[in-house]
Order: sequence, then structure tokens, then C-alpha cells
Amino acid sequence: MEVTVHRVAYFNAAHRLFRADWDEAKNVEVFGKCSNPNYHGHNYELVVSVTGEIDSETGFVMDLKVLKKLIKSEIEEVLDHKNLNLQIPTFSTTNPTAENISIFIWDRLRKFIPTHLKLAVTLYETPRNYVTYHGK
Ligand code: NI
Repeated sequence: MEVTVHRVAYFNAAHRLFRADWDEAKNVEVFGKCSNPNYHGHNYELVVSVTGEIDSETGFVMDLKVLKKLIKSEIEEVLDHKNLNLQIPTFSTTNPTAENISIFIWDRLRKFIPTHLKLAVTLYETPRNYVTYHGK
């Protein structure tokens, strides 16, 4: 019987969505306010979901204390209060959309989650705009 456990976390970060090979009008047309050259912030809400069989000894799918620490060290300490375009090398060449940030988070967490467990990431950029990524 598979069960999914979830852990919620928060971080604040600044970004700008744009393509250097497009002129300003095209960037504004496609990315709207998110293309502001002076950057802007979002209060991101992250939901990390781990699915698997319940361990017969502990009754856990995964110890949420362990997941909490992992999210803190691998995600919050890396992304919180950062300018994503300027301070996270991945996003110097890749637009820091919610889609791409969710893949970045999934990739960082995956290597620490036991392989028999499935990982999914849900990232809210605003309360009404969010993305999910379940891996490749
Ligand atoms: Ni934005």
C-alpha cells in the first residue's frame, strides 16, 4: 500500500524572466511584469511529496524530520533571499520560471531520497499559480 507524505516549506526570492535575444517589447509581451529589468520578488511556497510503502518498523514512508532538514539545507539555504538570475548559476542561462525552479529543486532533493521512494515537487509562485514536477 503506497502512501504519500508531504512537507511544506517557504522561501523568498527575486527573479526576472527575459530573453536577451528578444527586444524589450517582445519580453514585455511574453513575460509581462516578470520581465522588469530591476527584478521583483515572490514568496514561494514549496510542497515536497514522497510516495512509497510504509516501513513496517517505523510506520513511516519517510521520516519527516529528515525531509525537513533536507529541504532546509538543500533548498531554503540555497534559494532563500537570493536573486535567482544573478546568484544561482543554473538561472544565469535558464529562465527562473516556476517550471524551471521546480526541476532545480527536484534534481537537488532526488539524490538524497532513498531510491525506492517517488519524489514530486509542487511550487507555488503565487497562491493561484503553481506547477508540479514528478521527475523525468
Ligand atoms: Ni515573477
